[in-house]
Amino acid sequence: MNRSYKIGVIPGDGTGPEVVREGVKVLQAVSRVEGFKAELISYDFSGERYLKTGETLPDSAVEELRQLDAIYLGAIGHPGVKPGILEKGILLRIRFELDLYINLRPVKLYPGVMTPIQGKGPEDIDFAIIRENTEGLYTGAGGFLKRGTPDEVAIQESINTRKGVERCLRYAFEFCRQRAKEKKLTLCGKTNVLTYASDLWERVFQEVAGEYPDIKTDYAHVDAICMWMVKNPEWFDVIVTDNMFGDIITDLGAMIQGGMGIAAGANINPHRTSMFEPIGGSAPKYAGKNVINPLAAICACQMMVDHLGERRAASRIEEAVIQVLKEHLKGLSAGEMGYGTDEVGDLVAEYAVKL
Ligand code: IPM
Ligand code: MN
Repeated sequence: MNRSYKIGVIPGDGTGPEVVREGVKVLQAVSRVEGFKAELISYDFSGERYLKTGETLPDSAVEELRQLDAIYLGAIGHPGVKPGILEKGILLRIRFELDLYINLRPVKLYPGVMTPIQGKGPEDIDFAIIRENTEGLYTGAGGFLKRGTPDEVAIQESINTRKGVERCLRYAFEFCRQRAKEKKLTLCGKTNVLTYASDLWERVFQEVAGEYPDIKTDYAHVDAICMWMVKNPEWFDVIVTDNMFGDIITDLGAMIQGGMGIAAGANINPHRTSMFEPIGGSAPKYAGKNVINPLAAICACQMMVDHLGERRAASRIEEAVIQVLKEHLKGLSAGEMGYGTDEVGDLVAEYAVKL
């Protein structure tokens, strides 16, 4: 068998292991029918491990992860660990060290899925958000002065490099072209206030747009984007934005496509190892109860398989998810599916091989 992929699996915390198990089940099912091999290598990076060993992600692991074809992540986050440690030590560290400069988050409402937006359906909610994933407010640049005193100063800097902005925008233009929907790319910024950072983004956007005459371009401030995503989601095809704005608007996107039970994302370096994850958190209160929805993790698996070039396997997974949503699930929230986590995985795997 010549198509063989080395996939690092990081189940992580909370419900991560449960949803990843179902994603792996589906991956194995489609790999058998499509004739490729997925060699899985499991890593225990998590809050549990940190509490036991004091280690988040050893340096040697970063080197190992670089050698893989893809990484499949469940969730990172533990109620017993102070916020920031695991996020910075594991998730963001992988994004930065592997230079996963694109965070791609599709916002697609599948038939039969409830959206909180009245009067809108699957034909209205189908766009993608491309979030810059290695710069902006996420670099950790900044610091304190006189911490803990009445004169304290806290500075958190947004780093936007010409190179970083340009490579993200170029990816977005290419993605928009390949997607071939409306071929419309909307830049989301805040040019009326962030007159340095958003200015750079806008200038590079205009410049790169010159090379893509087939792509319509548009601009909206981030606050207005939030409004339009709710009021007129059908206006969007592809949105491109910086790290922080992207973090915020993709949660809004997740809600309008049916919630965290279904929302998946890809952390991409177009030339090297990429990482795929459900975008919801570790949901510790549902852990071990077999009630969490694994579809977001399964959709992340679909994005991974697609990225690896296994297009047919990817469309099998997507079609199977659509069938399961249409024919089976009563709801998408934890405990409201009418099925257990493992049963949903079984159903998707069954449809995926039958289709
Ligand atoms: C996400 C998450 C992360 C982020 C957190 C967990 C650091 O919210 O992937 O959107 O802010 O990027
Ligand atoms: Mn987020």
